[in-house]
Amino acid sequence: MTTSTSPTALASDTGIATPVRVATIGAGRIGSSHTELIARHVPGAVVAAVADPVDGAAERLAGAVDAGFATADIDVVLASPDVDAVLITAPARSHSELVCRAAAAGKHVFCEKPMAVTLDEADRAIAAASDADVVLQVGFNRRFASGFAAARRAVDDGRVGTPQLLRSLTRDPGPWHVDPARVPQWTIFLETLIHDFDTLCFLNPGARPASVHAFADALIRPDAKASGHLDTAIVTIAFDNGAIATAEASFSALYGYDVRGEVFGSAGMATAGDGRTSDMTFYGAAGIAIDTARRDTVLLHNAYVGELTAFVESVRSGSPAVVGGADARTALQIALAAIRSVETGRTVTVDEVD
Ligand SMILES: NC(=O)c1ccc[n+]([C@@H]2O[C@H](COP(=O)([O-])OP(=O)(O)OC[C@H]3O[C@@H](n4cnc5c(N)ncnc54)[C@H](O)[C@@H]3O)[C@@H](O)[C@H]2O)c1
Repeated sequence: MTTSTSPTALASDTGIATPVRVATIGAGRIGSSHTELIARHVPGAVVAAVADPVDGAAERLAGAVDAGFATADIDVVLASPDVDAVLITAPARSHSELVCRAAAAGKHVFCEKPMAVTLDEADRAIAAASDADVVLQVGFNRRFASGFAAARRAVDDGRVGTPQLLRSLTRDPGPWHVDPARVPQWTIFLETLIHDFDTLCFLNPGARPASVHAFADALIRPDAKASGHLDTAIVTIAFDNGAIATAEASFSALYGYDVRGEVFGSAGMATAGDGRTSDMTFYGAAGIAIDTARRDTVLLHNAYVGELTAFVESVRSGSPAVVGGADARTALQIALAAIRSVETGRTVTVDEVD
């Protein structure tokens, strides 16, 4: 069923002669945020359509951004001549199939992480985009956060020297209210730490992950551990250039959303991220305080705008995505090795899961 939600065909003119017409597939939390950013903050793009199978979801988001049309049927978006590119923001396990279908329909693709949950799926998605000659960008937004990008520049220009130790962490803002039964198994590796795995590769350019050892537990909801729930994890990764890394995640940091990275090398160290939402520090009778974010979309607003702007630029210029399918595959290899490590209690080489 296709429902028109707006009398105008497309969102307002951006001032650029041929705006990229973007459709969102999945009008949930991050899909809504990305769609608002495309409509209001990304130059050279307009929201052409929103698709979501849940009754009313597409219409609500399409109405909020004055999109061209709303539909519950993904095929309507994929068949539309008024759509140049799609944002895949549906649940993780639907991503790779949607990438393949969108690429086959000739649409450029921005896919939220993880692009796939098996390596076969990842290979199929990469091949589909390559065969169709469309841009495939993956939602590793941390690469576009100013501190992380500056840390990478410090590696590239030699200030860090040879990377030796790296760290990356993600702590979601607490308290954690989600019913553990609604969290798919291995989410902490496939959807949370996947960001950290990519960050570690980003800050150690040219190196390949070689082996992985992971520890994970249900420290926030120990009552749910028996059903396979995991909410806290540490992963160590040995890279083939000798660097050793740790990635760490928790689903519940009571002080707010916390994302940090670090690369320590033979000549120096670069760190990124401090959880601050501004550079104001408050000094009062109770002590010294900073403001922290309760949402990723607040803390990393500029990074989300940056990744979507880069995607639109790739589509318009025909240049490859800044972060693409191969990067998604490497991060997934680490995630799958971490899962195998938790299952077996031993160190797992990346080759074993490939
Ligand atoms: N990069 C980031 O920082 C970031 C942040 C949050 C979420 N994510 C990722 O984005 C994805 C979505 O997360 P979310 O929190 O927005 O989830 P969500 O549950 O809020 O939204 C998912 C939406 O997709 C719709 N949907 C379900 N099946 C669909 C299908 N086959 N086709 C189209 N739509 C479908 C649902 O109705 C829902 O509206 C996940 O993979 C998640 O890991 C990434």
